[in-house]
Amino acid sequence: MRSHLCGDITEQLASQSVTLCGWVDRARDLGGLVFISLRDYRGIIQVVVDPDNKSAFEIASSVRNEFCVRISGQVRLRPESQWNKDMLTGKVEILADSVEILNAAAPIPMLMNDDDGEDIRLKYRYLDMRRPRMQNNMRTRAALYQAIRSHLDATGFCELETPILTKATPEGARDYLVPSRVHGGEFYALPQSPQLFKQLFMMSGMDRYYQIARCFRDEDLRADRQPEFTQLDIEMSFVTEADVQELAENMLRDVFKQVLDVDLEASFPRMTFHQAMEVYGSDKPDLRIAMQLVSVDAALKDVEFKVFSGPANDPTGRVAALCVPGGTKFSRKNIDNYTQLVGKYGGKGLAWIKVNDLAAGREGVQSPIAKFLDDKALATILEQTAAADGDILFFGAGDWLTVSTFMGVLRLACAKDLELITTGWKPLWVTDFPMFEWDADADRYFSMHHPFTAARTNSIDELKSEAGNAISTGYDIVLNGAEIGGGSIRIHNPEMQQAVFELLGIDAEEAESKFGFLLEALKYGCPPHGGIAFGIDRIVAQMTGESSIRDVIAYPKTTSAQCLLTAAPSTVDAAQLDELHIKVAPILK
Ligand code: AMO
Ligand code: AMP
Repeated sequence: MRSHLCGDITEQLASQSVTLCGWVDRARDLGGLVFISLRDYRGIIQVVVDPDNKSAFEIASSVRNEFCVRISGQVRLRPESQWNKDMLTGKVEILADSVEILNAAAPIPMLMNDDDGEDIRLKYRYLDMRRPRMQNNMRTRAALYQAIRSHLDATGFCELETPILTKATPEGARDYLVPSRVHGGEFYALPQSPQLFKQLFMMSGMDRYYQIARCFRDEDLRADRQPEFTQLDIEMSFVTEADVQELAENMLRDVFKQVLDVDLEASFPRMTFHQAMEVYGSDKPDLRIAMQLVSVDAALKDVEFKVFSGPANDPTGRVAALCVPGGTKFSRKNIDNYTQLVGKYGGKGLAWIKVNDLAAGREGVQSPIAKFLDDKALATILEQTAAADGDILFFGAGDWLTVSTFMGVLRLACAKDLELITTGWKPLWVTDFPMFEWDADADRYFSMHHPFTAARTNSIDELKSEAGNAISTGYDIVLNGAEIGGGSIRIHNPEMQQAVFELLGIDAEEAESKFGFLLEALKYGCPPHGGIAFGIDRIVAQMTGESSIRDVIAYPKTTSAQCLLTAAPSTVDAAQLDELHIKVAPILK
């Protein structure tokens, strides 16, 4: 039906006849001439329809936005004064010979630009995706898939699939369940990840597996979390942590080069979980922000201000300072807002010192708490934080993890507000996570990664006696402040796996009913193995500069897990429920 694509029309085609198909991006009647901006996935080209060409002109005058049309005409150069530098095709236009309406469009229910609200964009997703921004997002995603497949194929990986109707795989969220018609009262679970199947592939001798896999997790949704999302899932046999990380780094470097022509660093920095929390207040530090947390405990042990001296003398406590360049411009109101923000993360307050004139010492600072600090403490803090004129110092004091966390949140907020986030790509590895987190409410340990992650120790006795301090073989890969992947070396010994289940409060009976197949498989010569899974949606969002993964998923759900396009979830017929042996109880709102 067409000879060229709209975005490919350049000066080289001048005076040639072309036939194009696409949508009317805009139609204008200017002084007798009709101008149509014709759009397809390659770009937009201007078409001019002259009134002398009566039949074409008549049709062109009737087209409206988003009509689907086919236009034939001649490419001609625009006079230099009419070049449109914002358009790739801005030096040329098409003088139409014929205009054919392939399909009319009812008035479009949206603006078709970034001012459209998200609800309307999701309801009319098929229209939203006609926009160049969404076209770019979807095509970047497709390019990433191709780059991943070519890299992994070339490095000896085998692409394998795993079931969707399956048994629960715990990754820390609730399961989506599917009732069985044949086995009344029984349910499949949709996979939270292919974790156990990929481990079984290693036991099958598949050696190097990957899959671009859909995962399902019923959890609180956010900009970077969807109920169904896509992982690049990888598992390898006979490997150490370093082997998996090297493969993952090489692959990321290759795909960033292929898709974006970006050169990521030759070797990604590494940081332990403890260092990441201590210095950045986050287990997914954004290294594009230079500001770091500074531990100022030593200088504050003897000050009379109990808010500081208490945690400074407590081995489980911490006083952390954050020096924000240019922060003296913060108003009382700004500081109150930051105090409220840290309050949501457990901060009981947010002490501060504005440094107006460093050379003037005590006289040069403004602060509600400076009066509680002796000269030596004040001078030490100013030196340790390398404060300069115009900076503000914020202080968090209390329990180590709480302080680190809320000061990390503050670091991000200040960086955003003062535009202190540099451009570029900052990947890193975070390693040495604790094996378990203690949940006081549940009175039990939870896995920091998942229950199949190996500890650094191979001794069951040591793990049991030192569970609270055990370090796991888990690792996360972080890019510009987003956790884009995570993995570990797995437990390949059935006794160790059983011991970890016990520590997690899963008794032998429950372990047998939920994971009996895994425990049994581990008995038959399971190779040492490990792997990683990347959040594809998060990587594409980073690549396209989108702040929400919803913008890189063709048909995403809202934050309340609804599909506005199809209106799912929805009720079903009573007959269908009967077949599934299900009775719906009254819904309590
Ligand atoms: P994990 O649970 O860390 O590990 O998931 C791996 C990566 O998947 C992405 N991710 C998500 N993306 C969008 N929406 C979600 N709801 C969501 N949840 C996770 C993140 C994350 O880093 N089986 C293990 C991997 C392994 O051990 O190999 C797992 O699933 O980018
Ligand atoms: P207060 O003695 O509670 O009036 O607090 C005096 C100053 O210390 C105020 O600026 C508070 O915001 C700050 N502050 C109180 N508790 C903490 C804390 N845990 N960490 C940091 N600053 C705090």
